[in-house]
Amino acid sequence: MDQYRDQTENDIRTDRLLREGDVNFGSQREQWYRHLPEGTKEMLKADEEVFLKQSMSTPCLDVITDAEGAYLTDCQGKQYLDFHGNSLHQVGYKNPFVVEAVQKQLQQLSFIPRRFTAEIAVKAASLLVEKTESRDYRVLFHPSGSGAVGMALKIARKATGRQKVISMWESFHGASLDAIAVGGEAVFKKDMGLMMPGCIKAIPYNSYRNLIHSTDPERIADFCIDYIRYIIENEGDIGAILLEPVRATDIHVPPVSYFRQLRQICDENGILLIFDEIPTALGRSGCFYVHQNFQVEPDILVLGKGLGGGVIPQAAVLVKKKYDCASEISLGHYTHEKPALGCAAICATIAYIDRENLVERARQLGNFLREQGEALCQRWNCIGQIRQIGLMIAFEIVQNRETKEKDAELAERVLYGCLAEGLSFKVSGGSCLVWHPPLIVTKEQLKTAFAILEKVLKEQKADGR
Ligand SMILES: Cc1ncc(COP(=O)(O)O)c(C=O)c1O
Repeated sequence: MDQYRDQTENDIRTDRLLREGDVNFGSQREQWYRHLPEGTKEMLKADEEVFLKQSMSTPCLDVITDAEGAYLTDCQGKQYLDFHGNSLHQVGYKNPFVVEAVQKQLQQLSFIPRRFTAEIAVKAASLLVEKTESRDYRVLFHPSGSGAVGMALKIARKATGRQKVISMWESFHGASLDAIAVGGEAVFKKDMGLMMPGCIKAIPYNSYRNLIHSTDPERIADFCIDYIRYIIENEGDIGAILLEPVRATDIHVPPVSYFRQLRQICDENGILLIFDEIPTALGRSGCFYVHQNFQVEPDILVLGKGLGGGVIPQAAVLVKKKYDCASEISLGHYTHEKPALGCAAICATIAYIDRENLVERARQLGNFLREQGEALCQRWNCIGQIRQIGLMIAFEIVQNRETKEKDAELAERVLYGCLAEGLSFKVSGGSCLVWHPPLIVTKEQLKTAFAILEKVLKEQKADGR
C-alpha cells in the first residue's frame, strides 16, 4: 500500500483518464486501507507481493474467508452484502444444490478427454438450447467468457467468409487480445499496440446523450441503427455485429425497435448477430436469456459467468444450426471442451433456477428495485437517473440533476462509504453505481442495501432535495 502513496501524480492522472470503474489507489483507497485491521493489511501486502498489479483488481480491498448466498465474509468476520459478485452469483454463492451436484460429478467422472463425450455434457448443452425460443442451436464450451467470444468471432468468419466485425465503443467482451480488439474500453487497450484488424466500432445505445439531444428511446435507437447501416454500406465485408443486448455496466435498455432493426439489418446483409450475455443471462433480466425481453434471436449467443453456478469457471457459445459449417477445422479445440464439472454445474444451476422460479422472482423483485430506486432518485438530486431491468440497477451519480454532469468523485466516496457499511457493488463508467444482486436475494436484503446507500449519501452530504 505504501507504494501506492508513492504513485506519481502522472500515474494517477492517467488512471483518471482511463477510469472505467473505481480505482485501486487515490485518496479514497488510501483512507480505506487506514481503517483496516493489521492482520488484513498484512494479508493484502502478501497478496500484492505475489500477484501482478492491475486496474480494478490488485491491490485488493479486503481478504475474504467465505462466500455464501448473498454474502461475503472477511477474515475479521465482517459481512458484505455482495451486489457485485462479478455478476456470477445468480444462484447465490456456495449454492448447496450446485455444490452437491459438482461434488457428485467429481467423484463419478471428473474429466472428459477430447474425442470422448459423456451424458452430462450432452445434457448441459441440451438444457441451454431448450431454454431458447427456437431450440435451433448447437453448442461449444469454453472455461472463460473471453475464450467463448473468441470462438464466436471465429465462427462468424468461417460461416460468412468475411473478416470484419462491428462492435460498440465503450463495450467489454473480455480481456484476451481478440476480445479487447472488439471491446471499446480504453483501460483494456492502452499500451497493447496493434489490435486485430477489421474491428469497427459503432455508437452504443448508451452514448446517445453526447450525440443527440433526445431522450426518446425510439429516436436514439434510429440514430444508432442509421450509423450501423452507414458502416455496412461504406465499409463492406462485415461478417458480424457483436454487442451486449443490455450493457451490464450501466444498464441502458434499448427499445424493442432497436433489436428489430438490428435483426433486419443482419438478415438483409448476411451478417451474423452475436449477443454477449455473459454477465446478464440466466434470469437476471427477468427472462432466462436477455434477448427474450426483445423478441429477437441472435445467430450466436455467448454465455458465461453464472453458467458455472458461481462454482466452476464456465462459458458457452450457442450457434444457430445452419452455421454448423466448420467440421473440417478446429474452432474450439480447447482442453476443457466438454467439461464434466462445468456441465454438472450448468445442469444444477438451470435446475435450481427452474425449481426456485428465479426468473419470475427476478421480475418481481426487479419491480420492487425500480420502485425503491425511483423513490431514492426523487429524494436525491445527485442521482441523475436510475436504469433497471430485472435484478440489475444503475444509479447515475451527477453533480446536479439539471446539468447531469457526471460526478465520479462522489460515486467513489459513496462506494467506499457503502463498503464500510457492509454493502459491496461496482462503480462503472466512472459514475454509475451498479447493483447485480443474486437472484436469491430477499426483499429485506434489498431494503438493507437501500438503507445503507441513503445513509452514506447523507454522510457524504450529497445533494439532496
Ligand atoms: C460482457 C462481458 N463479456 C465478456 C466477459 C469476459 O468473461 P471472462 O472474464 O470469463 O473472460 C465479461 C467479463 O466480465 C463480460 O462482462
